[in-house]
Amino acid sequence: MTVNIGVIGTGSMGADHIQKLSGRIAGARVSAVFDVDRERAAAVAEGAGAKAFDSAGELIASSDTDAVVIASPGPLHPEQTLACFAAGKPVLCEKPLGVTSDDCRTVLAAEVATGRRLVQVGFMRRYDAGYRQVKATVDGGGIGEALLVHAVHRNPVVPDSFTADMSMTDSVVHEFDTFRWLLGQEIAAVTVLAAKRSPRAAAGMRDPQVVLMEMTDGVLVEVESFVNCQYGYDVRCEVVGSEGTVTLENPVGTSLNTGGVRSQPVPGDFRARFAHAYHEQLQEWIDGLSTGTVSGPSAWDGYAATAVGEAAVRSLATRGRMEVELDDQPALYR
Ligand code: NAI
Repeated sequence: MTVNIGVIGTGSMGADHIQKLSGRIAGARVSAVFDVDRERAAAVAEGAGAKAFDSAGELIASSDTDAVVIASPGPLHPEQTLACFAAGKPVLCEKPLGVTSDDCRTVLAAEVATGRRLVQVGFMRRYDAGYRQVKATVDGGGIGEALLVHAVHRNPVVPDSFTADMSMTDSVVHEFDTFRWLLGQEIAAVTVLAAKRSPRAAAGMRDPQVVLMEMTDGVLVEVESFVNCQYGYDVRCEVVGSEGTVTLENPVGTSLNTGGVRSQPVPGDFRARFAHAYHEQLQEWIDGLSTGTVSGPSAWDGYAATAVGEAAVRSLATRGRMEVELDDQPALYR
C-alpha cells in the first residue's frame, strides 16, 4: 500500500521531507503540496509529480491526501493540525506543535476528543541511532542510575533575526524533548543564564547561554547553547550514572592523521548531522500508518516542550529559576 502524503510548506524543511518521501521512503509518495509561495509550490510539485493546491484546507480535505506533513511556520501549526483532525487524517507536524502552551492545549483537547492519536511532532532526535544507543544503555542499567547530564548544542551561525529567546524555543527545544524522552521524566524546573556575549553574536543577542533543567526525580541536565560557535554543528551529550557514563559524540566518518595531529570533521549543519534521523522519522511514521498506528512524539510531548520553552524564556529574562507546571496528562498519552 502506498500512502499519499500532502505537504504544507515547501521551504527548507518541507523540501527536505518531500525529497525523502519521493523515492527514498518505502510505501509513500508525495501527492499534494501547498505553499503561499505559489511559484515555489509549483516547482516542488512538478519535481515530485504532485498536485499543487490553492489552500491548506483544500489539500487536507482532498481525496488525493491520506496523511499530511506540516512544515509551515510554527504559528500556523495548531490551525493546520486541527484541520487534519477534522478530516480524520494523520499528521506529522514539524516542531513546534504550537508556539504557546495554550495553543498546544487546544490541539491536545481536540485530539483527545477524537479518541485516538493522529499527530506526531517532528522531534527527530528520537530517531537518531546515537541517541537511541544512549537511551538503551541508560534504560538497560548500563551506567547504574542516571544522575546528571552534560550536553552541548552548537550551531555555526544564525541569521541576525535570530533572538536569544529563539535559542530556547527553536534550538534547545530539541534538548527539552530529547532528555524528557531519554530519561523518561518531565522537566520540573529550568534556569537559563547568558554567558559572556560572543563578539560574533548580533546586536542584542545573548549567546552563548547555559540551561539547567531539573528533572522530576532529581537528575540535573546542563546544556550549553551556542548558536554562533563558527566552526560547525556540534551536538553531544554525556549521561553520568552511578556506575559509569555514556557519551554521544558526533558521528565520525573519517579521521585524518598527519603531522602528529589527528583531525575529524564536524558536521556543517543539522541536516547533515541528523539526515538519517529525519529519514527514520519519516519511515517509521509511514510504517505505522499502514497499521493505523501513530507512535512517535505525541501532542503531549509537543505541549511539554513548548511549556518548558516558555519557562526558559521567563528564566532568561529574570535570571531566575522557573518551575514548569504541566496540566494533568490525558489518558490517551499515558
Ligand atoms: P522556511 O521559512 O524555510 O519554510 C516555511 C515555508 O512555509 C515557506 O516556504 C513559506 O512560504 C511557507 N508558508 C508560509 N505561510 C504559509 C501558509 N499559510 N501555508 C503554507 N505554507 C506557508 O522554514 P523551515 O526552516 O522550513 O521551517 C518550517 C518548520 O520546520 C518550522 O516550524 C521550524 O521550526 C521547523 N524546523 C524543524 C527542524 C527540525 O530539526 N525538526 C529544523 C528546521 C525547521
